[in-house]
Amino acid sequence: MPTLLCYGSYGFVGDLIAREAIDRDVDLLLAGRDGDQLAEQVDELGCPGRRFDLEDSETVADALEDVDCVLNCAGPFSNTAEPLVEGCLESGTDYVDITGEIPVIESIYDRDEEAKDADVTLLPAAGFSTVPLDCLAAHLADRLPEATDLALGVDSFRPPSIGTVRTVIEGADTGGAIRRDGRLERVPTAWRTREIDFGRGTRPAVTMPMGDVSTAHYTTGIPNVEVYALMPEPARTALKLHRYLAPVLGLTPVQWTLKQLAGLVREGPAEWSRERGSAYIWGEARTGDDDERVVSRLRTPDAYVVTVNAAVETAERVLDGEADSAFQTPAGAFGADFVLELEGVEGFFDESTPDETSPINPLLR
Ligand SMILES: NC(=O)c1ccc[n+]([C@@H]2O[C@H](COP(=O)([O-])OP(=O)(O)OC[C@H]3O[C@@H](n4cnc5c(N)ncnc54)[C@H](OP(=O)(O)O)[C@@H]3O)[C@@H](O)[C@H]2O)c1
Repeated sequence: MPTLLCYGSYGFVGDLIAREAIDRDVDLLLAGRDGDQLAEQVDELGCPGRRFDLEDSETVADALEDVDCVLNCAGPFSNTAEPLVEGCLESGTDYVDITGEIPVIESIYDRDEEAKDADVTLLPAAGFSTVPLDCLAAHLADRLPEATDLALGVDSFRPPSIGTVRTVIEGADTGGAIRRDGRLERVPTAWRTREIDFGRGTRPAVTMPMGDVSTAHYTTGIPNVEVYALMPEPARTALKLHRYLAPVLGLTPVQWTLKQLAGLVREGPAEWSRERGSAYIWGEARTGDDDERVVSRLRTPDAYVVTVNAAVETAERVLDGEADSAFQTPAGAFGADFVLELEGVEGFFDESTPDETSPINPLLR
């Protein structure tokens, strides 16, 4: 049976993913750099473990020699994706991760040719960021093949896990990003505000540098992409303030202090909260002259629930050989309807008129 190695398996999301993979009878190897935490998890889950750090690419490649696919859950991925991808290319192992970090996705995209030569699939961003928005982007591109502009948005405001907080801090000095004419463009944080009806009435959302800015373009070929997140007023103001703080946030002592403070955040959303959570996803494709415009929506379970299901489902499909050997996006590999196969996801709810506040909005149930 093909083997999946889950790296960072004893982290908050890694542990949820490992449990889901075990429930699905995946042949799983738990892995990470800390022997104590790993040994504790190995005992509890009754699954084999493999301890190795990511300091040296030869060690990583050796550790992956008998592994068919890595599922990297160790974030911030700016520190872990590069050595694991390198090890995968050397050992001929497929690679999946749950990053939402644009620079990480871009750096993996740059290794497309190497992946083809090594007969390896590199599929980053198989979590909440980016599976639902990536699939919605593909669906919108199918509806309007001439589209030149894509706007995507997510309404899923919830407290993050400590790992997500650390990841946000790690990228705190880089500001926002959009894609224009096919190229990534840096913009200030919360650069543009837009009133969007995610399915529960119109509310203000701001541009955010989510991984979908990268993936939606690679999936659809649409040259202009903006990604929005619903943001209540205090958070919008804080994000705008961030524009002035960004240069300071990149300084090492400030980063260190923020990470210590992040350690005070509780581990992650509890089970009851994940079970009750939900997210509303919106997308719009337009032609440049604004002659044509289509809107579609999705409703999903909680972002952490989607991340766990999407990551394990993706890894299983990669193990089954369903994704070509190359850089891949989730919808590029498995099609727009991939997201509809995840438990609890509803959609696509298509709208073709400009009236986004239609009272018969299917999400208002
Ligand atoms: N795509 C999505 O929608 C989505 C959803 C949820 C979370 N995430 C991302 O997933 C990541 C993990 O989140 P989490 O809540 O599980 O965080 P967490 O509880 O802090 O776990 C992080 C894991 O990564 C390991 N790790 C971190 N840096 C490492 C390094 N340099 N070398 C080796 N191992 C390293 C940690 O091991 P040690 O204890 O040994 O440091 C730990 O096992 C975050 O980046 C978060 O943003 C993405």
